[in-house]
Amino acid sequence: MEATYNYKVVRQFAIMTVVWGIVGMLVGVILSAQLIWPALTEALGPLAPYLSYGRIRPLHTNAVIFAFGGSALFATSLYVVQRTCQTRLISDGLAAFVFWGWQLVIVLAAVTLPLGITTSKEYAELEWPIDVLIAVVWVAYAVLFFGTVVKRKTQHIYVANWFFGAYIVTIALLHIVNSMAWPVTLTKSYSMYAGVHDAMVQWWYGHNAVGFFLTTAFLGMMYYFVPKQAGRPIFSYRLSIVHFWSLNFIYMWAGPHHLMYTALPDWTQSLGMVFSLMLIAPSWGGMMNGIMTLSGAWHKLRTDPILKFLITSLSFYGMSTFEGPMMSVKTVNALSHYTEWTIGHVHSGALGWVAMISIGSLYYLIPRLFGREEMYSVKLINTHFWTATIGVVLYIAALWIAGVAQGLMWRATNLDGTLTYSFAQSVNAMYPFYTIRLIGGTLFFVGMLMMAYNVWKTVAVGRVVDDARIPQTVAA
Ligand code: HEM
Ligand code: HEM
Repeated sequence: MEATYNYKVVRQFAIMTVVWGIVGMLVGVILSAQLIWPALTEALGPLAPYLSYGRIRPLHTNAVIFAFGGSALFATSLYVVQRTCQTRLISDGLAAFVFWGWQLVIVLAAVTLPLGITTSKEYAELEWPIDVLIAVVWVAYAVLFFGTVVKRKTQHIYVANWFFGAYIVTIALLHIVNSMAWPVTLTKSYSMYAGVHDAMVQWWYGHNAVGFFLTTAFLGMMYYFVPKQAGRPIFSYRLSIVHFWSLNFIYMWAGPHHLMYTALPDWTQSLGMVFSLMLIAPSWGGMMNGIMTLSGAWHKLRTDPILKFLITSLSFYGMSTFEGPMMSVKTVNALSHYTEWTIGHVHSGALGWVAMISIGSLYYLIPRLFGREEMYSVKLINTHFWTATIGVVLYIAALWIAGVAQGLMWRATNLDGTLTYSFAQSVNAMYPFYTIRLIGGTLFFVGMLMMAYNVWKTVAVGRVVDDARIPQTVAA
């Protein structure tokens, strides 16, 4: 028996993924309800301003992306790097620092955002002292991850680590460049960039946060957990290498599709559009590589709800990476921009892809991390799968219809050139769709509660497996 792996940090992040998923999605459900009943939180008296829509919207995005998604990525990357490099993390102290540092960042975000302390840059709202903390924790994470890769006992570096590695390097770059600011007080700073440059840097960051945080890193997850759960080797190792380099190269250039028809020079908008269209190729190549890994094991999909989560997530990934390039086409964007369509697109990626692949991977991980034979209730995983799937479909289908209707209403003109509909009429038309979204979102949230119960029961009363079957040791 050689040295055991450091599973403590993986367990900590895995549990916090479920906790932050519940918190972040609950805020999403409250937001959805506020859009139907704008005065919903006003009854809370002095607390009301802190829970107003504008304050808790960034709380939702930060909680689901960085707390839920982030914890899932820390858990899986730190597990995968140890397993595939057959070596323990280089430092337990550094691992603990990364865990507690990241939790501190989340708590600081949860306090400052409702207080209205914000840079107002989307997905980069946190003020400069928290940004400095993020940079320090991230560098520690990079040292931990790459240090472990360096001392690996295997000859080659498994492809999942390449994807995790690219995400770690890129997020450091994006975060540091976009957060450059002049501090005025402890809670206020001004961006170092001005006007259109500020917008350009912000959406270079924003798009690549999607590209590297919400995509590349989760592809790392895919390359490990899909073959593991399917019990098959990855479909094509060669394709995974082409996938890796093309995806990373092309993503970097697509940011301007967030700034169509703005003061950004027209050629940059066209460049962003062209690169976004090109992104279909690596995105679908990667999706195919994941789905085709099931060749010869398709029958497992019928009975294995974990595999259902993983493979369905890939279908949503394919769908949102087809939709995104379409929305980057200028004429399509002229209709979709500012509408609910964008929010539908976001959540087909966020719920369908990011959340579902994380949930599937966690169901794989939890029994192994806690030395249990399997999850407490496989039936409940299946119920969770259907609740979540119906939830996402309701959410995104409602917002597609809402978005297109909204866009068409805004642009409709009468023969004399006046607008056919007032803005208020277009808002009124949204109510049925907002209600369906609330139902879909609530279903997804309820699924997370099922997961929390299942995880708790697995840890508390799950049947312990004898040591030899727990993959704790390098030899295992
Ligand atoms: C129960 C699940 C969820 C519900 C009910 C929900 C609901 C919402 C609502 C109501 C908004 C504001 C939309 C608007 O202002 O028009 C929103 C925004 C957003 N949500 Fe969620 N959400 C959920 C889960 C997630 C997850 C898991 C993620 C990411 C992993 C996510 C990422 C985002 C992002 C990035 C935005 C901002 C979109 C934009 O500015 O275009 N959401 N969500
Ligand atoms: C080939 C891949 C993709 C392309 C080319 C793409 C393209 C786009 C476009 C054109 C927009 C609308 C910009 C606007 O009109 O404001 C958008 C918004 C967005 N997309 Fe995608 N998308 C892709 C994949 C994804 C995936 C997989 C996710 C999530 C996991 C995602 C998350 C988002 C978010 C969060 C926004 C809203 C940004 C904001 O305004 O706050 N995208 N995307």
